Amino acid sequence: MAFEDKIKELLDKRELAQLGGGQKRIDAQHGKNKLTARERIALLLDEGSFEEYDMFVTHRCTDFGLEKQEYLSDGVVTGHGTIDGRVVYVFSQDFTVFGGSLSESFAKKICKVMDQAMKVGAPLIGINDSGGARIQEGVQSLAGYAEIFERNILASGVIPQISAIFGPCAGGAVYSPALTDFIIMSKDTSYMFVTGPKVVKTVTGEIVTDEELGGAVVHGSKSGVSHMIADDEQEGIMLIRKLMSYLPQNNLEEAPIVACDDPIDRLEDQLNYFIPDNPNKPYDVKDIIHAIVDNGEFLEIHRHYAPNINVGFARFNGMSVGIVANQPSYLAGVLDINASRKAARFVRFCDAFNIPLLTLVDVPGFLPGTAQEYGGIIIHGAKLLFAYGEATVPKVTIILRKAYGGAYDVMSSKHLRGDINYAWPTAEIAVMGPKGAIEILHSKRLSEITDPKEREEYVLKAEAEYKEKFANPYNAARYGFIDDVIEPRNTRFRVIRALQALATKKEVNPPKKHSNIPL
Ligand code: HXC
Repeated sequence: MAFEDKIKELLDKRELAQLGGGQKRIDAQHGKNKLTARERIALLLDEGSFEEYDMFVTHRCTDFGLEKQEYLSDGVVTGHGTIDGRVVYVFSQDFTVFGGSLSESFAKKICKVMDQAMKVGAPLIGINDSGGARIQEGVQSLAGYAEIFERNILASGVIPQISAIFGPCAGGAVYSPALTDFIIMSKDTSYMFVTGPKVVKTVTGEIVTDEELGGAVVHGSKSGVSHMIADDEQEGIMLIRKLMSYLPQNNLEEAPIVACDDPIDRLEDQLNYFIPDNPNKPYDVKDIIHAIVDNGEFLEIHRHYAPNINVGFARFNGMSVGIVANQPSYLAGVLDINASRKAARFVRFCDAFNIPLLTLVDVPGFLPGTAQEYGGIIIHGAKLLFAYGEATVPKVTIILRKAYGGAYDVMSSKHLRGDINYAWPTAEIAVMGPKGAIEILHSKRLSEITDPKEREEYVLKAEAEYKEKFANPYNAARYGFIDDVIEPRNTRFRVIRALQALATKKEVNPPKKHSNIPL
């Protein structure tokens, strides 16, 4: 073959590979308001940075007439590229080829980029859009999934792993994304479930749609499986790029520091008057977050799930920080099962990837009741306790208002190796709120008072006495559990100084195979 012909052969093959399962299927994909695997990669990575691997791979199946149907790349596009100049590894499932279903060759391609991402210490981003195991390949396909799962597990805590779900993701296939750090789903075009609506109907008689069973809104708000909901794929891809900007390349590196033009000593006078007089009145803790972080930018994770606690990434003087904040405007910021699980997972992610933690505390305690107890709040609450107690990254805590009971301990208290623990003058640190405390401490006397007026006066007096003692940060500060009581308007500066001081922190846990977090 002449040299020119060889080049032509290469270019023809490349062109063919670009077409995936063919123009008709590409049009069908677009018709469903979905992008193709390659279009998604082009949007995700810096322009011109993508280096594709294994474009010429095909499946090896000779059953069910598959030997007559071969597509270059075999349904998944893999390789590496950059996001804001930093290397990432990607795979993007191509629904136009056998519905993006996973064959042995397909799995090998994914494993190759996973292995290389681990070798070089770079994040892995997977875009999922697949009909699951390639039915014609049987156990070869199941084996391929398990090879991927094992790599997900070994990579956990070593490199960040991000999954986008932009189409079907069903059966055991859901477990690869579930093993990664973050899942982003696109509204209306994606779903995840272990068993689909047809099986559900057969087994339980329940009638549900794909969307109701496992759509983005369901997983973003009810199950918590999805960390972020995107209106469409374009937004989903932009969210991945944004998320990446807060993350280091691997567990041995720090997150990138971004030039900060927001003054570090910016005073926020309104914060001095922000906490309502009435301790039962809610406020939005996100207003405080936006006021203190660089340029008001906060990338919230799990925004619609367990909104009684807010978690997400922001920067202080250009440094990436994970924020955990009780949210008084939803269920008074109480800790329940979902909030505990949500925050514990976030704390552990930050700790695994050297991202300091800022905790903003206003928590009335754990949610009481049979639903919570039967659901295992003891174990789930322990997760958050465990996560904070185990974390060795810099931990800065600010008690804004209530820090009651066990929840005081849990929320990155001094006793769980909190490094710098501040309180606002509005802080109330106690075993419980005044009302409950008086009912217990004075129950005998209260049962003796029959006159309602006298009883009310007695309660008011006892409450005043209790508040005087505990509805302030100074009792805790007296014991050194609070390092300083700070002026709220100065919070940004104090956090930045604390983080600067802690930047060289070194703390190691005792050697062990691994911990036994209450799962
Ligand atoms: C082989 C598949 C396939 C699969 C889809 N296709 N799923 N080929 N194996 N699993 C093919 C179709 O034959 C079709 O080929 C093309 O992909 C597009 O599929 P359609 O059905 O036309 O598309 P759509 O109507 O959009 O429906 C998509 C779908 C549906 C909902 C994903 O195809 C579906 O239900 N597929 C089967 C899903 C499934 O049960 N998978 C196994 C799950 S169990 P043509 O040539 O017509 O374009 C599993 C176990 C994993 O995955 C275990 C891990 C431990």
